[in-house]
Amino acid sequence: RGAGRLAGRHVLVSAGGTREPLDPVRFLGNRSSGKQGVAIARAALAAGARVTLVAAHLDVAAPEGAETVPVGSALEMREAMLEHAPRADAIVMAAAVADFRPRTERASKLKKRDDAADPVVELVRNPDILAELVQRRSATGQPQLIVGFAAETGDDDGTPLEYARAKLARKGCDLLVLNEVGTDASGAQRVFGRDENSVMILALAGGEPQHAAGSKDEVAAAVVRRMTDELAASEA
Ligand code: C5P
Repeated sequence: RGAGRLAGRHVLVSAGGTREPLDPVRFLGNRSSGKQGVAIARAALAAGARVTLVAAHLDVAAPEGAETVPVGSALEMREAMLEHAPRADAIVMAAAVADFRPRTERASKLKKRDDAADPVVELVRNPDILAELVQRRSATGQPQLIVGFAAETGDDDGTPLEYARAKLARKGCDLLVLNEVGTDASGAQRVFGRDENSVMILALAGGEPQHAAGSKDEVAAAVVRRMTDELAASEA
């Protein structure tokens, strides 16, 4: 069987970059295009799943056929993910969730005033949605496959793969898709906005990391194939 392997399954996907409100007209954002998450939603649909896409800011259109839940901030995304998680057989956190948000959202626009000191924005940590989804699953005992993403760079203390392994253990999700941070023509490191991707799929259960590269659609197909195998294995 190829297509239709996810028939009867519900897949919940988050995608895009959250926007953390500063005042009614301004936000702190990030460069996530949402392309990889949207491609995963599309691949899950193609495999016959029912798909809910919790969409933060996307540079691309949400796929036809998915139930799309638009959100702005990380807190809104958290609420939407926790609301839809109880009905999901699998969850993919592909969104670029802001690690920090301004402590307060000002009720009115921050004004520039010559007589006042420059404003200082205080940031507070956002909740880790992925970790919370894993906790929710263990608290409820619901059978559910949870997939996280990570973009890691290596340094003197470890390789990207080593950092990803540690993150996988810390977050407790079943699979972690490691984005190898690429370099563009100028040598600058770059992960966002590209049409091509190269990833390693790591499993909490262990085993050799699985490499997948190509267009974001090809990478999404590989991730969804692996998810389908894991879902089938967990029922065998
Ligand atoms: O810790 P880090 O941000 O590298 O982890 C990336 C993974 O965790 C992604 O799957 C991302 O969607 C998720 N995440 C989250 N909530 C956060 C930060 C990241 O769910 N506040």
